[in-house]
Amino acid sequence: MTRVIIDCDPGHDDAIALMLAHRHAQVLGISTVSGNAPLAATTANALMVTALLDVDTPVHAGAARPLAGEPRHALVVHGQSGLDGVERADHRRTVASDDAVEFLLDAPDRDVWIIALGPLTNLALAIERDPAWVRRIAGISIMGGSATVGNTTRVAEFNIFADPEAAARVFLAGADLTMCGLNLTHQLRTTDAIVSRLRQAANPRAKFAAELFDYLHGRMADLIGVREAALHDPCAVLAVTHPQLIETEPRAVDIELEGTLTRGMTVVDQRSTRRQDPANARVAYRIDAGRAMDLVLECMD
Ligand code: RIB
Ligand code: CA
Repeated sequence: MTRVIIDCDPGHDDAIALMLAHRHAQVLGISTVSGNAPLAATTANALMVTALLDVDTPVHAGAARPLAGEPRHALVVHGQSGLDGVERADHRRTVASDDAVEFLLDAPDRDVWIIALGPLTNLALAIERDPAWVRRIAGISIMGGSATVGNTTRVAEFNIFADPEAAARVFLAGADLTMCGLNLTHQLRTTDAIVSRLRQAANPRAKFAAELFDYLHGRMADLIGVREAALHDPCAVLAVTHPQLIETEPRAVDIELEGTLTRGMTVVDQRSTRRQDPANARVAYRIDAGRAMDLVLECMD
């Protein structure tokens, strides 16, 4: 099985991604970061999900704030706890450490993938401490950015917008980097029919997922008038565990740091191939959404 470390900010879709990763990869550890909610909440949620899954994956707490500016959260989507709307598994788990960056740097060898599902602060701090780190890991798969429109501003996606300086450092570090942006992740969407199907299954993971999707659909209905939710973070897991399901193209990607309207934008060079700047990422453009959703639902059996 592919060995991975999941850096995340649970977060509803992060929780589904953790379920998927634990089914299809060897998860060496989880590092948490401020993002969807403050660090204390995302860390508590990661611990709770490991209890729900009954796995002994260590959780290491990471950065509580971005490299520059103030922390930004997405509580309007995920709620005050960062994972509202679900019955929380009881547990007495605690973090393995408060130094997620050290844990990332200790990634054992070249066949470990880093799957980043939140702002890239922890990864940027690891690169700052040891630029050679990116050559000691197999690669980085991120949910972040977009080759089309944003979700937090017209052009910026939340994970990048929450820490653009960190994203710039990761994209320029020379890693083997796959970018699953909104242009891809919006192809994988949950519906109320999926909630009904999960409610018929009699196991705690399916019950948890049904509650989670039902809550998310309610938030999306309030925010955009549609009872559906894009499964953003699971796409970055599938890019590592099932790469055959995702079509990517080599692209030059830079992060806008200065623009009044465009700060946090992933500027993807999509000109004709003869004119493109040298690629620094594999940008995902298409996913086999049917097969991907089957894999997501199977991890709740
Ligand atoms: O823009 C979507 C991303 O922001 C997802 O990772 C979601 O969990 C939030 O972190
Ligand atoms: Ca996330």
